[in-house]
Amino acid sequence: MSILVTGGAGYIGSHTCVELLNAGFDVVVVDNLTNSREITLKEVESITNKNLTLYSVDLLDSESLHKVFENHTIDAVIHFAGLKAVGESVEKPLYYYETNLRTTINLCKVMEAHHVHKLVFSSSATVYGIPEQVPVLETAPIQATNPYGRTKIMIEDILRDVAAASDKWSISLLRYFNPIGAHKSGRIGEEPSGIPNNLMPYITQVAVGIRDELSVFGDDYPTEDGTCVRDYIHVVDLALGHLKALEKLDSSSGTQAYNLGTGNGYSVFQVISAFEEASGKTIPKKVAPRRAGDAPVTYADATKAEQDLGWKAERGLLEMCEDSWRWQSHRSKQNAK
Ligand code: NAD
Ligand code: WQD
Repeated sequence: MSILVTGGAGYIGSHTCVELLNAGFDVVVVDNLTNSREITLKEVESITNKNLTLYSVDLLDSESLHKVFENHTIDAVIHFAGLKAVGESVEKPLYYYETNLRTTINLCKVMEAHHVHKLVFSSSATVYGIPEQVPVLETAPIQATNPYGRTKIMIEDILRDVAAASDKWSISLLRYFNPIGAHKSGRIGEEPSGIPNNLMPYITQVAVGIRDELSVFGDDYPTEDGTCVRDYIHVVDLALGHLKALEKLDSSSGTQAYNLGTGNGYSVFQVISAFEEASGKTIPKKVAPRRAGDAPVTYADATKAEQDLGWKAERGLLEMCEDSWRWQSHRSKQNAK
């Protein structure tokens, strides 16, 4: 079975390629490498001792995408490619709407032309905005606080309409909570360009001395220690969720949304403590003002994924921190060479 992985050179995509190859799938990656590097896929090949095929193609380029489908018999697509920086989406909304929506529409049109109708889409817990109730169920109100989040809501709507128009389609909308961690080998992991927006890469960069101190955005939230609570999920657990979702597409049609989270919430201070324990490093920090748009508390009810897909996150916060730290240490040593 051949799986096309768009955005497969990226953070979640590369970890999913490892699990797909380990499970015996043939993997074809389409990635324009705007936020990733080809070497990551070489690492994937070396971790798994298997080969994959990379097309350095932009999903906005339908003609090249058609050729990929002509060259391979694709059974299903996992669609990670897209832009994901919340702050940037506020500054460049048209770039985000155009890239995230058009790439997905192009992809679906090309899939349709080649009679491929199985799709797993990277949605996000961002579609819940600031949830009214936790744990968050898939049936919770949908409301985003930024353009990036609205692209995910719009794409979910588009995909629901596509599946409603033809019962050939089977589409899984996976709403990720907060992916962190890295592959155990320390050879692939999250690699943000510039100043990290997200908590874990910021912490790991402070730990290796790239940044001086972490700003904790707000300690006056109505939580136990005053900092925001999130559902951090190991990227390998997340990757494995994609394999379960793929399996399910064989016996279903229409669209289904699934939360992929652990069901546990941890505060910013708890994450810092866990990281300090895992790495043996102290993370210098200061409390800064709240960040606009942050939900005080969000974590998943992931029961639906467990019941329908037979998937459950297994890795805990300490392991996530250990693996993030191994990856960051490895990268810093490589950069120092
Ligand atoms: P990433 O940036 O590491 O990976 C995305 C990949 O898509 C990159 O390799 C990039 O080069 C590629 N890409 C971007 N635009 C493209 C285009 N026009 N054509 C071809 N390739 C293109 O991001 P990630 O963290 O791996 O996220 C993957 C998906 O999961 C994204 O859709 C993101 O919105 C979603 N998601 C991520 C998170 C998170 O916190 N990382 C959380 C929820 C949802
Ligand atoms: C986590 C917590 C911050 C950085 C984002 C996107 C979401 C999804 C996952 C794609 C919050 C605090 C952070 C820092 C801090 N991505 N923090 N200092 O905001 O929950 O989710 O990534 O779909 O759409 O919004 O994750 O890692 O940015 O923040 O105190 O330097 O860490 O305030 O409480 P978030 P995050």
